Amino acid sequence: MSSGLSARDVGIRELMDDPRADERMLARTYGRFGFVNAVVSRPGLLYRRDIRPRAVGAPLRILDIGAGGGDLCRFLAGRLRRDGLEAEITALDTDERAIRWASAHDRGAGVRYRRALSTELVDAGETFDVVLSNHVLHHLDDAELQTVLEDSRRLLAPGGLAAHHDIARGRTAYALFAAATWPLSRNLLADSFIRVDGLLSIRRSHTVAELRAIVPRGWRVRGGVPSRLEVRWEDDRARP
Ligand SMILES: C[S@@+](CC[C@H](N)C(=O)[O-])C[C@H]1O[C@@H](n2cnc3c(N)ncnc32)[C@H](O)[C@@H]1O
Repeated sequence: MSSGLSARDVGIRELMDDPRADERMLARTYGRFGFVNAVVSRPGLLYRRDIRPRAVGAPLRILDIGAGGGDLCRFLAGRLRRDGLEAEITALDTDERAIRWASAHDRGAGVRYRRALSTELVDAGETFDVVLSNHVLHHLDDAELQTVLEDSRRLLAPGGLAAHHDIARGRTAYALFAAATWPLSRNLLADSFIRVDGLLSIRRSHTVAELRAIVPRGWRVRGGVPSRLEVRWEDDRARP
């Protein structure tokens, strides 16, 4: 790995996390997350493998931690509705700007948008069948990561699944993202933080080995394509 990518760089901050970030660019960034996720995050696979099988028989309660613009929640809501399956989907984010933008762009999906920390939901005794996140782990320092993992485990109803997805740091991820976004930086991704923040994110991200070394006992970490990782917990109590 090149020297700039050999270790997590938690000292850098993504532009979208700046409270003074340009509002118009931030809004375009939220608006483009759906495109980026469709290309890199494989939401269809998540739906087929982890969501649809659990949604058969009873309404599924889904929590998306760090939902950003809410595109993953709206995608899942659309697929479930198409398949005649019921769900209550909650999009959680600590950033008021994300919640405001996502609420204004629900487009009839029926997602609930909440500004809160996962710890507040734990304290309120809330539970979910599926707890997800996408591209959030790299935002967290080591202590915050432990909190989010512990909270997501405690938020699970019996038989539930927690699955946190992110990019895996590495030269391939960096080179692919840089090459793929360069031609789009003057059109589709113009006036957004997607390209700059995407490259910064990769520098902040973990490798599979790094996560394996720090996740609490019982969590599984696995790599995927393209340069993806998943941190996963399956509750072994019987689902009622
Ligand atoms: C890169 S965005 C990803 C958004 C969305 N999940 C996606 O895949 O497009 C990361 C989001 O996580 C939120 N976030 C960061 N730390 C968080 C935490 N501890 N709890 C909830 N949200 C958090 C940020 O405010 C931001 O909206």
